[in-house]
Amino acid sequence: MKEKIDRLLAEVHSFSTENAETLEQFRIRFLGRKGHLQELFDEFKLLSADQKRDAGQLLNVLKNAAQDKLNTLKQTLEAGQVIAASDTDLSKPVNFIEVGSRHPLSLVRNEIIKIFSRLGFSVNEGPEIEDDWHNFTALNFAPNHPAREMQDTFFVEKNPDIVLRTHTSNAQIRMMEKTQPPIRALFPGRVYRNEAISARAHCFFHQVEGLYVDKNVSFADLKQTLLYFAKEMFDADTKIRLRPSYFPFTEPSAEMDISCNLCGGKGCGFCKYTGWVEILGCGMVDPNVLENCCIDSKVYSGYAFGMGIERITNLKYQVKDLRMFSENDLRFLRQFESAG
Ligand code: DAH
Repeated sequence: MKEKIDRLLAEVHSFSTENAETLEQFRIRFLGRKGHLQELFDEFKLLSADQKRDAGQLLNVLKNAAQDKLNTLKQTLEAGQVIAASDTDLSKPVNFIEVGSRHPLSLVRNEIIKIFSRLGFSVNEGPEIEDDWHNFTALNFAPNHPAREMQDTFFVEKNPDIVLRTHTSNAQIRMMEKTQPPIRALFPGRVYRNEAISARAHCFFHQVEGLYVDKNVSFADLKQTLLYFAKEMFDADTKIRLRPSYFPFTEPSAEMDISCNLCGGKGCGFCKYTGWVEILGCGMVDPNVLENCCIDSKVYSGYAFGMGIERITNLKYQVKDLRMFSENDLRFLRQFESAG
């Protein structure tokens, strides 16, 4: 009897149909009044009490399996019939689905990446939660540099060693630690500073860091690269100027202005009538920084730059209030629907 039940059980399991008639035949054959199960139950009555215990269990398994199979196939069939019988026109176009649009900061970030990737820059990212070494020390910040103070930097759980990165320059260090030159990479990402939120400042914003390290990299390479970027990002008439500046991790350092893209350099309210607007910081990677990452500064040199994505976006789209970028007001975001 056991073999017979096993055989029928295998048959139940492998049975499938999409046809109502075949399903009805299945029901009759297994669960009908003269079906396999009835037959087996009749045989069961003739068994000894001992044999009944085992056979009873097997019979129940078979009965449940047949019943389950019947129910499942019936439901599938009925669902199919409902669709077939309803007056839903499946060939009709679906209702319009709102797919949303790219955030303006993403649009500008992607454009920056596109421009630099044409020059051979790869794209990488660094962590937003960072240790003191990568955010400050390896970048040549003096131990008492004001940026290390609580007023400027967010520390994680009061641990002076773990910060929310204050700039994307941490990613330069991580890259140089794990890769020997040539390195030509871009690092976009979010950064954090302990600032009161207003139209002109926010406690988080976005930067793109650039780094190029190889033999014989010069300041002229930096200048040419940034000029190319400015012309591609704004327009072909855009001019740049570099003003001497100071960053602990670059020597010499500079800040770069572009000719005001609103007035074309003639002077307007936006550029405070100077004709120029600042867009980024840059310089030659300080030899100390290269050495901190085990790169031989006698063999290699490099340049780096860092720009705020909000800043570039403001110049491109004249967004007056930084808070707009993080408030997710659809009236603001929808204005960029066709931009990307
Ligand atoms: N890390 C600087 C900042 O957050 C920006 C910067 C300036 C990055 C000069 C650089 C650089 O790589 O060379 O203000």
